[in-house]
Amino acid sequence: MAKPRTAFVCSSCGADTPRWTGQCPSCGEWNTLASFTEARAPGGARRAGPVAAAQPISAVAGADDARLATGFGELDRVLGGGLVPGSVTLIGGDPGIGKSTLLLQCAASLAAGQPVLYATGEESVRQVAERARRLALPDARLSVVAETSVERIVEIAGEAAARVLVVDSIQTMSAAGVEAAPGAVTQLRESTASLVRFAKATGTAVFLIGHVTREGVIAGPRVLEHMVDTVLYFESDLGSRFRVIRAVKNRFGAVNEIGVFAMEGQGLREVRNPSAIFLSRGAQPVPGSAVTVAREGTRQMLIEVQALVDESALANPRRVAVGFESNRLALLLAVLHRHAGLALAAHDVFVNVVGGVHLDETAADLAVMAALASSLSGRPLPQDLVLFGEAGLTGEVRPVPYGEERLREAAKHGFRRAIVPRANAPRQAIEGIAVTAVAGVRDALATLQ
Ligand code: TYD
Ligand code: MG
Repeated sequence: MAKPRTAFVCSSCGADTPRWTGQCPSCGEWNTLASFTEARAPGGARRAGPVAAAQPISAVAGADDARLATGFGELDRVLGGGLVPGSVTLIGGDPGIGKSTLLLQCAASLAAGQPVLYATGEESVRQVAERARRLALPDARLSVVAETSVERIVEIAGEAAARVLVVDSIQTMSAAGVEAAPGAVTQLRESTASLVRFAKATGTAVFLIGHVTREGVIAGPRVLEHMVDTVLYFESDLGSRFRVIRAVKNRFGAVNEIGVFAMEGQGLREVRNPSAIFLSRGAQPVPGSAVTVAREGTRQMLIEVQALVDESALANPRRVAVGFESNRLALLLAVLHRHAGLALAAHDVFVNVVGGVHLDETAADLAVMAALASSLSGRPLPQDLVLFGEAGLTGEVRPVPYGEERLREAAKHGFRRAIVPRANAPRQAIEGIAVTAVAGVRDALATLQ
């Protein structure tokens, strides 16, 4: 076996360097380097293992045939069509968001088809069992162990012939031979590395639960994200019972998919038709509310955008965007001023995307602008109107992909009118929805008068 290598690793960014310095050469943070002894020199493990032989790529079995259903269609879709054996999935989220609940429910469901081990370093076995009972989960082949040593967990998973392993949470785990406290970068790295080796060697699918820091990233360095196959975030609006799971990295699927869940007394329930919840509006139309059809991953969703425009008492009026990019909001305000004569320089402007969704598609531009104009004028938009389209800096409205699909989704949910970019006007009329095609921002707002 190769000689252990000593290096210094930054607790902020996870970069390693052979020599100690006061400042991390990679991210520039001060006093973040800690010494770290790697159990194996790079390449050592590979040389000790069986010799790999090249083979035709077409002869290699695909992962898709063997994908496992987690019991939640929403999660399967975010994973790219189910759980891939031998994959490592890191799932991050705020404390109390429901990570343990989600994975306990998945584990119980997966256990119907194969042995599953739920290893917890956060709770006692009894707490986990009680929760499983309270959620009335089938527990046929689900084993649970309270353990924080990665080596022991790997051993127990091996003995139980587990095909799926859940580790709750990676911050409580420690690997043998690493002196740092659990949660420290060196521990996270070594623990994750052992679990990744285990997953790849045995074909066991591994879920790692990770806490997020105040800044909203998974605690510990980004290096964890590089080591695993898939990174999911589980998030929610403050105080909302709805939860959104999104992939930020996925070696086995698209990264823009989202899955929607509701937290209920009986644990998490998947929401198959999310448009319905994002659109729970009052019966009376109110100024400052507009509906857009967003595309998240492979499906369309109707999402309400709210704006509040109010005279400001501040020298620098506030611009606050929740669920929408603030730079994009600044850009839209400039376009509204320059090309539609809407003067908002002396107003505080707030934009909120309802339901804790993050709209990062430019297709939402038109709805945001309409909501702003409606709030300023105090005139509500029609309840049965949807808008989508991208705003250009010269005041033009640009087309967006999947125009027809978006219109069909809107019609399905009872919307009767749509304002869309000219190039997105459907060639054949879509039943139930009247489409107004616009070329510029000024026309779009004029049709609302
Ligand atoms: P938990 O899964 O423990 O969160 P995490 O592992 O992300 O820290 O979920 C904790 C919260 O979920 C807790 O505040 C209570 C709530 N909850 C329900 O509302 N219903 C349920 O059935 C369960 C199990 C939890
Ligand atoms: Mg938990």
